[in-house]
Parts: sequence; structure tokens; C-alpha cells
Amino acid sequence: MKKRKIILDCDPGHDDAIAILLAGKNPIFDLLGITVASGNQTLAKTGRNALNLVQYLELDVPVCLGAVNPIIKEVEVCEAIHGESGLDGFDFPPLEIDFDKRNAMEFMIEEILKSKEKVTMITTGPMTNLGLALRIEPKIIENIEEIVLMGGSYQNGNVTPAAEFNIYCDPEAAYICFNSGVKVTMVGLDVTRKVKVFSHIIDRMEKINNNGSDLFVKLMRVFNENQKKVFGFDGSPLHDPVTIGYLINPDLLEIQHVHCDIDISHGTSYGRTNCDIFDFLELERNTYIAKDIDEEMFWDMIEEALKRY
Ligand code: RIB
Ligand code: CA
Repeated sequence: MKKRKIILDCDPGHDDAIAILLAGKNPIFDLLGITVASGNQTLAKTGRNALNLVQYLELDVPVCLGAVNPIIKEVEVCEAIHGESGLDGFDFPPLEIDFDKRNAMEFMIEEILKSKEKVTMITTGPMTNLGLALRIEPKIIENIEEIVLMGGSYQNGNVTPAAEFNIYCDPEAAYICFNSGVKVTMVGLDVTRKVKVFSHIIDRMEKINNNGSDLFVKLMRVFNENQKKVFGFDGSPLHDPVTIGYLINPDLLEIQHVHCDIDISHGTSYGRTNCDIFDFLELERNTYIAKDIDEEMFWDMIEEALKRY
């Protein structure tokens, strides 16, 4: 069966790490590369975390650094949740690999234009790199199968009442992506908050007892400690891997096609993904949003992926 070509743009980040793990050795994917954004931490830290993950998980994929800053805003990291390193909780062995010489935008443009099949773009951090790539070389639009992003919410946010972190970090980049004409599937907080890494999930994955489960258990324990402090959650919402799970089996999510407008007005709703789920405005439907998730299927996917490492 033909593999689906994907590029994963991320800001590792505890949940980004599980997205990389879920995609990394799944035989249905041809993971062309991992590109890195600032977000959960500065680019220097998210970049190093991506290299550490690729080396530890023994993935033979290039890692490309993206833009240091969002298009308009300044970087706003999320140290309270992901820690000083951006991936607190796991001691990686000394790094022996380095970044690809191309930056994220160069990599995306080159790989998309040369691919004989359309490429699926997955973003699990601020959308800066993809937004810039779309502006630098619009020709890539015709060879992108779909943009699947973790971000936004048709309900409330997690950094302001209105906005979710990935969109809020770079609303202008999200605006470019959502209005590019490429099919956009938005995996928002509405569903990712339903897959929380409760202690019984950690116990279940710990029984696998391999390199993958060791990484999962140690990272998730720290992720949970921080989410408890900040949000009072008993289990962390495992946001980012839901994008990969959707590509493994679209039945994972209940999807609705709506008009979605990214608020770039700099008001109190700056960075909000305004999803017209009742079609009040009767505008062109430009986004497929996730409305519900099969939690049991999701955790089975995570368990199956961990067993590959
Ligand atoms: O709002 C959740 C998102 O912000 C996730 O991608 C998490 O990794 C952070 O980047
Ligand atoms: Ca992320």
C-alpha cells in the first residue's frame, strides 16, 4: 500500500514528543522530515528536543529549524507546562546528530515541490513555518494534500478565554494557512481535552516496558505534575498526537465542515478560531473541525505505537 507522505512541524513539547513517536515508526507514513517552531520553548530548546527525540527513537529523518520568532508577535513560551528545557522529565543520551542544513521553510518548499504525491502537512505548534512557506512559494499549495493542525477551539481557549496557545502564538500565520485554499482539518481543544493521560493510562503503557514506554511514562509524569499545578487537571490533555491518530484512522474523530475565521484584530479575542458551527453567516466552509473523539481507539493507537520502539 502506498505510504502517505507527511511533514510534521512541531514545538516539542511533551505532547509533541508523543506525536513524533506515534508517527515515527508507523508503516502507513513516509515521514519526510520534522521541522521545528518556537512555542512551548524557544527555538534553540525545541530544536534540541526534536534532535534528542529523533536520535532516541532511532528515526532516520531530517530535523530542520524554522523561524526564531512568530511573524508579528514576540515569542511567548510555555515554561510552566513544559519546563525550562521544554521537555523536562527525561535524560537523553549525548546528542550525536545535527540539524539538516535547510531551514524549515526551505525544506517544506523543496520536499513538497519535488514530491510525486501530494504531501500532508501536520502542525502541532504555532503555524509560523508553514505560514511563511506558503508566502515564500505559493506553488506548494497545489501539492499539499491537507493541513492537519493541533490548535484552536470552537469553544474556549487555554491561554485567553478566546484563544488556544498554538494559534495565539502566531495568529497571522494561522490566518495565512486557514485562508490558503488548502484543505484544513483543525484538531482543537474541544477533542484534545477529552484524552487525558490519567495515572491508569500511564500504568497501562508502563507494562510495555521498552524504550518507547520508558519515554512516555517519564515525560507524562512531569507533564501531569505541571498540568495539575497550572490547570488543576488530574491528567494532561494529550493534544498533539490526536492529529496523527486522525491520519491513522479518520474514524477517530467526528468532523464538521464549517467556516472558520482567525481573529487577527488585536482585540480581546485576538487569536480566536471563530467557527460558525450553526452556519449563521452562510460563508464558504473552509475548515473541517473535530467535534468528538473515540477515546478508546486513541489509547489503543498510543499503546500500539509504543510497542514499535
Ligand atoms: O494548546 C495546546 C498546544 O500548545 C499543544 O500543541 C502544546 O504542545 C502547545 O504547543
Ligand atoms: Ca505542540
